[in-house]
Amino acid sequence: MLAIIGGSGLTTLSILDVSHREVARTPYGEPSGPLVFGQICGQPVVFLPRHGYGHTIPPHQVNYRANLWALHHHQVSGIISVASVGGIRADLAPGDIVLPDQILDYTWGRQSTFFDGLGTPVTHVDFTEPYDALLREHIVAAGMALGIALKSGGVYAATQGPRLETAAEINRLERDGADLVGMTGMPEAVLARELQVPYAAINVVANHAAGRGDSLNGIHFERLDDVLREAMGQVRSLIEHVVGCETCVATATRPAAATLSGT
Ligand code: HPA
Repeated sequence: MLAIIGGSGLTTLSILDVSHREVARTPYGEPSGPLVFGQICGQPVVFLPRHGYGHTIPPHQVNYRANLWALHHHQVSGIISVASVGGIRADLAPGDIVLPDQILDYTWGRQSTFFDGLGTPVTHVDFTEPYDALLREHIVAAGMALGIALKSGGVYAATQGPRLETAAEINRLERDGADLVGMTGMPEAVLARELQVPYAAINVVANHAAGRGDSLNGIHFERLDDVLREAMGQVRSLIEHVVGCETCVATATRPAAATLSGT
């Protein structure tokens, strides 16, 4: 069963033929909302809106550990994370859909590991490639089959939020190598890795990042909704297509967690 975590612009999944909802309780507290189970094209899917059903949970207060633990508990075969971002790279314009392949993490103060229990061995996971390449390839293939233009690859910078960045901060992120900026990609991606669940992101560019393009003098919120509404229609089609090929996802290679004693 594939899981979809929805972000801004995707708080419900209309293509899901809902069978039931479950209020999950986890050792880390409650997820952002009830897990919604159902089928897409006859395939089982579970959906969770990251910011809650009323879009009330800001990025720094999302209970990422509860969300990931609950999905893993249901033995999901992979997670597609959908989130809006700001475009830093010059060729990224509002409405573009990007499948990032790298992460820079600027978040702080978030619960970012499952391996912090007292008395348990220090555990490190390999995070060289933070996203699952095979799952990303399935999304690329879906885009090609559907004629939806996707940009595969890009460095996602995760900022703390909930405020947007200053123009100087975006300049710094660009110097660091970032192509796009969002607030929720971490620790979501690393928690999925710790649980060894294949994880890929579909990022929708909602706006030019601060100080860039038509955000040169500020970000115009009134345009964001329209951009997201249109692009999320394409994201739904991509998800439908990927779910049809879901058996491939289950066979994705999973990196092993390394347990290093005494470090
Ligand atoms: N910055 C950070 N997160 C975002 C942005 C942005 O410009 N747009 C959408 N999510």
